[in-house]
Amino acid sequence: MTIEVCVFDAYGTLFDVAAAARQAASEPGQDRLAAIWPELAEDWRRKQLEYSWLRAVTGDYVPFWQVTCDGLDWAMDRAGLDDPELRERLLALYWELAAYRDVPGTLARLKAAGKACAILSNGSRDMLEGAVDSAGIGLYLDAVLSVDAVGVFKPAAAVYDLVGARFGCAREAVLFVSSNGWDAGCAASYGFRSVWVNRSGQPQDRLMASPAHVLSDLATLPDLL
Ligand code: LAC
Repeated sequence: MTIEVCVFDAYGTLFDVAAAARQAASEPGQDRLAAIWPELAEDWRRKQLEYSWLRAVTGDYVPFWQVTCDGLDWAMDRAGLDDPELRERLLALYWELAAYRDVPGTLARLKAAGKACAILSNGSRDMLEGAVDSAGIGLYLDAVLSVDAVGVFKPAAAVYDLVGARFGCAREAVLFVSSNGWDAGCAASYGFRSVWVNRSGQPQDRLMASPAHVLSDLATLPDLL
């Protein structure tokens, strides 16, 4: 079936989630963070996701901003960083994460090919607006869909349902793009044509279904259509 809509996960796929810790580590007086920022960024991301899944299972939804703060608190605790100012700085940077370099060019090519483009993210609406604005990619997006609308996190089917509800298209007419292996796998199981952007050379997740395509970045995505 012809693809009508290209739907992107946000964090890790369009926006570089490690950018906040990397940037803070490069600022004056952050020698300790400079030594450990990759590990902090990884712990932060892992806990943010774990908390989102646990809250999806138990039904205790809070906006993604809350699990982002909770994940950072765990990661800073583990790293022995008791520094409220640094915490505020890292959280502030999360609102203006850099987009990966290949993002604007790929979105522009998809739009030129007549495809609708959208974000479907666990992110809260306000977080997504901040990131889209600071990355300057709003002009390419027909919709920014947040799980806030359904009060549960990915990979709940209710989240993937938001795409059909917004665009009125069949599942097979959606190209769903995520750098998160679990998201790409679960979206494939849901019935989207799914693309896993394996930016960091991870092994494939063992889930209910496998993505239709695996790319190492977004640059060649338009060639799939
Ligand atoms: C998102 C997270 C899962 O943007 O990366 O939905």
